Amino acid sequence: MKRVLTILSLTLAALTLSAQTVSFDKGRFQKGDDPAWSAPGFDDSAWREVTFDQSWETLVDYANGYGWYRIHVVIPSSLKKGKVEAIMLDLGAIDDSDQTWLNGHPVGKDGTFPEEPGGYSSEWGRRRHYVVDPSWVKWDKDNVIAVRVYNYGDPGGFYRGAAQVSKPSLKDFAKLTLEAGEGGYKAVLATSVKTSGSLHITVTDILTGKVESDKTQKVTVPSWKEKPYFCALAPQKRLKVTYTDPRFEEVLEAEVCAPYILTPPAPATPRYNGPLVFGVRPGSPVIFRLAFSGDKPMKYAVEGLPEGVVLDPDKGVLSGSCAQEGDYPLVFTATNDKGSASAQFTLKVGTQIGLTPPMGWNSWNCWALSVSQEKVMSSAAALINKGLADYGYSYMNIDDAWEAEYRTPDGRIEANEKFPDMKALGDYLHSNGLKFGIYSSPGDHTCGGFLGSLDHEQQDAEVWNSWGVDYLKYDWCGYSKVYDASKDHSTAACIRPYLKMQQYLREQPRDIFYSLCQYGWDKVWEWGSYIDANSWRTSHDIVDTWESLYVTGFVRQPDLYPYAGPGHWNDPDMLIVGKVGWSSSLRDSRLTPDEQYTHISLWSLLAANMLIGCDISQIDDFTFNLLCNNEVNAVNQDVLGKQARRDVDEGGIQIWSRPLADGGTAVGIFNLNETSVPVRLSEALGQIGLEAETVRDLWRQTDIPTEETYMILPHGVRYVKVKP
Ligand code: GLA
Repeated sequence: MKRVLTILSLTLAALTLSAQTVSFDKGRFQKGDDPAWSAPGFDDSAWREVTFDQSWETLVDYANGYGWYRIHVVIPSSLKKGKVEAIMLDLGAIDDSDQTWLNGHPVGKDGTFPEEPGGYSSEWGRRRHYVVDPSWVKWDKDNVIAVRVYNYGDPGGFYRGAAQVSKPSLKDFAKLTLEAGEGGYKAVLATSVKTSGSLHITVTDILTGKVESDKTQKVTVPSWKEKPYFCALAPQKRLKVTYTDPRFEEVLEAEVCAPYILTPPAPATPRYNGPLVFGVRPGSPVIFRLAFSGDKPMKYAVEGLPEGVVLDPDKGVLSGSCAQEGDYPLVFTATNDKGSASAQFTLKVGTQIGLTPPMGWNSWNCWALSVSQEKVMSSAAALINKGLADYGYSYMNIDDAWEAEYRTPDGRIEANEKFPDMKALGDYLHSNGLKFGIYSSPGDHTCGGFLGSLDHEQQDAEVWNSWGVDYLKYDWCGYSKVYDASKDHSTAACIRPYLKMQQYLREQPRDIFYSLCQYGWDKVWEWGSYIDANSWRTSHDIVDTWESLYVTGFVRQPDLYPYAGPGHWNDPDMLIVGKVGWSSSLRDSRLTPDEQYTHISLWSLLAANMLIGCDISQIDDFTFNLLCNNEVNAVNQDVLGKQARRDVDEGGIQIWSRPLADGGTAVGIFNLNETSVPVRLSEALGQIGLEAETVRDLWRQTDIPTEETYMILPHGVRYVKVKP
C-alpha cells in the first residue's frame, strides 16, 4: 500500500466509472539481466516473442536465473475517462520474484532477488496487481511494461495466461490489513482517497463461538494516509475487523485468529501413535522406531519378532533383518511409571515397501541451500527430544546442496564441506530408529546447480548405500537438457531416467524409498507405480501462502485419488507449517492458523507424504499440535491406503471424504471463502450420503452432535470421522 501511496494522485469523484479492460497475452523475452532493459526506448526487436500460457522453460529452453519480459501495449484513452486518475495493471502470478516498470517508472516488486540482503524469496503464487500513476501512461500509443524476473526451480516466468490494464474501482484504493504486534494486532486502514466510515471490531472465542467484544467507531482518514487501530487479541480468540464507507462498493474486511490449539495433550501413560504396518524386503535392514507417547523413560517389549529382528528395549528400536517372506503379527508394549499400553502391528516381509505414506522431515522448506550436517543433526535430535518421533515421524531427508563441486577422478560423488561425515550421520539416525534420505537429479545438475547423477547412476546408488541411505528424492531439473536434446518427448522418454535409477536402487542390499520429483509432468501418477516408485510429486513447489496451498491442494489433487495406495503415493509436496524460509534465516509460516489446520487436514485425507518442512529444533506448541494429533495422523497412515476424493465443491465449500480400514470415513469440510460460513453437519454429511447422530471431531478428539451448526472459519476446516 505504501508503494501505491507514493506514486498515485487521484481525486475522489471517480466512483461511477465502469470497469474497462485491455488484455494482452504475449511479450518479448530475453534471458539474462541488464538494468538498461527497463528503459522504454531500448530496442527489443531481436528478443524472442513468447506467450503467457507456458513457462519459459517450455518456450525458450531456459531454467534458473534472470529473464526479462518487455510487453508492448497500446493503452486507450477511454481508460482515462472520468475523474479517477489511475490505472490498474494486473500481471497475474509470476514465477518466482520480479520487478516491473511502466515506461521506465517503477510500479511494483514481489519477492526478493538473490543479491538482496536476506537473499532470494519466491512469491510465485501471488497476483501482481498494481495501481499506477496515469501520468506515466502514453495514451493511445505504444507503452512498454518491462518485467525483470528471477526464477529458481521449474517453471519460470509468466505462464498463467493473459495480463491486463484496467480502470480501478474505488475499493482498489483503500486497504484494510491486520499486522501482528505485541499482544494483539494493528488494524491499518490505508487509503489514497479521503474516506469516512465506520470500523467494526469483534473478538470471538474460537472454541465456544461466543462474541467477547463488539465495538464500532467512526473513522475519517485523509487521502494518502493510513491509520492504525490497536486490537488486543489473546490466544484462542478470533478478531474480525470490517470497514464500511457508504461510497465504496464493498465492505473491507480482515480477519485473523491467534494460534489456537485443538489437539488435547497426550496422556502421561504410554500410547501408541505410529503406523500399524511396516514393509521390508527379505534380507534388507529393518529400521523401525516404536512410536509411543507418554512419560519417559519407557521400557519396550515386542512379541512375535521373526528370527533376525531384534529390539532395543530402552530405545524401542527394531533392527536386524528377516530372510523369510511373510506377514508377522507383532504386539508392541511400552511401560512407564504411570502404566502400560500395547498395540497390534504387522511386519510385512515381502516385495513392497512404503506401505503407509512416509512421515519425517526434509531440509528444503527451511534451510534450502544452507542445509548442513549440523542442521540435520539438530532437527533429528529435536525429532526425538521434542517427541515428534513418538508420532511416527522417522525419515530425516537432506534435500539439495549436500553435493561436492566435483566428483573424484574415478567418478565418485562426495558430500561438500558442510557434511563432514555422511556415514556417521546415517549411523546416528539408524541407531535411533530413524531413516536417512537424500536428494539427486537424473540430469547433470540439480535445481540448485549442484552435481546430478547423469551417467553415474550406478555409482551414486552404491555410494548412498554405503552411507546407509533409505530414501531418494530424484528431481528432474537438469534432465531437461537431455530430454530436449533427444527430441523424444514421449511418455517413455519421461520414464527412462527414473527407470534407470530404480534398477540400481533395487540392486542395493537395503530398501530405498523412491520418491520421484518432476512436478506432475506427463501424468506421472499414471505410470509411477509401474516403475515401482513409492511416491511422486504431483505439483510444482509449494510455498507458505494461501494461493500456493490452494493451487497445490485444492486445484491439483482432486482427480488423483485412484492412483494412491500402499507402496505408491501422490506427493503434493512438503509441509509449510512452523519456521520456514528457504534460506539461512527462518520466519513463521505465513499461513493463518486456520490455513495450517486446513493444510494438515487435507494432507491427512490425501494420504500424502508427511515431510515436515520447518526447523524442528524451533518447533512451537501450536506447530506441535498440528503435527502430533494421533487421530489426524492415523487417517494419513490408514492401512487401506485410499486417498480422499472431493465430493462437493459449491459456493467455496468443499467436502472431501476418505474410506478407512475400520469401515469408517474421514470427512473434511473446508471453507475456502474469505468469511466464516455456518455449516449444519448433518446436512453436509447428507450431501455425500452419510448419516450419523454423532461424529468424531478429529482435531478436538471428542464426539460432537451432527444436528448442530458449526462455524467454519475463513480458509478453515471441520475435520471429522464418521464411525463405522
Ligand atoms: C526443486 C524441487 C524442490 C527442491 C529444489 C532443490 O525445485 O521441486 O522440492 O528439491 O528443487 O533445488
